[in-house]
Amino acid sequence: MQDLDKIVAEATAAFDAVADPAELEQVKARYLGRQGALTERLKTLGKLAPEERRELGARINAAKDRIEAALAARRQALAGAKLEARLAEEALDVTLPGRGLARGGLHPASRTLERIERLFRSAGFDVADGPEIETDFHNFTALNTPEDHPARSMHDTFYVAGAKPGQVLLRTHTSPIQIRYMQAHVARHRHLPTMPEIRIIAPGRVYRVDSDATHSPMFHQVEGLWVGEDVSFADLKGVLTDFLRNFYEDDSVRTRFRPSFFPFTEPSAEVDMTCVFCHGTGCRVCGQTGWLEVAGSGEVHPNVLRHCGIDPERYIGFAFGMGPDRMTMLRYGIDDLRLFYEGDLRFLQQFV
Ligand code: PHE
Repeated sequence: MQDLDKIVAEATAAFDAVADPAELEQVKARYLGRQGALTERLKTLGKLAPEERRELGARINAAKDRIEAALAARRQALAGAKLEARLAEEALDVTLPGRGLARGGLHPASRTLERIERLFRSAGFDVADGPEIETDFHNFTALNTPEDHPARSMHDTFYVAGAKPGQVLLRTHTSPIQIRYMQAHVARHRHLPTMPEIRIIAPGRVYRVDSDATHSPMFHQVEGLWVGEDVSFADLKGVLTDFLRNFYEDDSVRTRFRPSFFPFTEPSAEVDMTCVFCHGTGCRVCGQTGWLEVAGSGEVHPNVLRHCGIDPERYIGFAFGMGPDRMTMLRYGIDDLRLFYEGDLRFLQQFV
């Protein structure tokens, strides 16, 4: 019977057309299943004479064997293809170079603080710190700031809600660290006839109600404090001038001390340095003045020493507070302070 060969050819072609193993099993049913083409043929055998039946039966069985062989071949081919695909997909080129770790870097503000700490350490200063959430006492009262001083107003200071009104705040400067450090220092050395010198800087974040291109509500300060039996205003000048020359790597830097006022120092002075861009001749950065304001400073007020249990008749010293963010801007030529805190990697990566 011709059509048996045709069925075998058709089945083989149908198997080969299938790419999915599950679909292959469905196609198989069309030829070998209970209602498949061959089974239907076998059902007709009963009506035939014994002689014919044997002959046709053998041929149908042979066709069935061929279809089963084609099916098995296709099954194996599909399984092989699946394995190949998986192997190709999961292939691992162990000879490729590794991806490596991206190198992080310090924020420019942190780089400046580290540099400041390093320079002051080499001048014999310790590095101290204190809490960013402060009491009114440490931030203002102990620093000889009167009750009605404008810095205490809600326009300038962030007060902590829920605390006793006006008692807890975000420190507006690093000066409260002076108080905490001196009190602890006095307690630590109470048993000694002479208090050892205090010589610290205290870098940290401070907060004020202020925000524009050169002011951020959070910014950094570095406090300095040197108290001993014989620490003069000349020492203040020397320490700051030396520091600024080292920081900007420029020995031609000059400083000038302008009389000023802070409740916690007397006398007080604003510290200016010659402009790092024009060296004092006047340019856009210094507003044609030739000078840049870099710090507030002065001799520690006797009332501040008294608040900390230090005898102002015996001990004397100076304090200063400078703005490292401005120093970072000058050192790297950055003109908008807000860039510091936006976390834009395109900006930050330049400093790595
Ligand atoms: N705390 C002052 C300020 O924030 C700066 C300063 C510190 C002035 C120490 C004198 C002495 O403006």
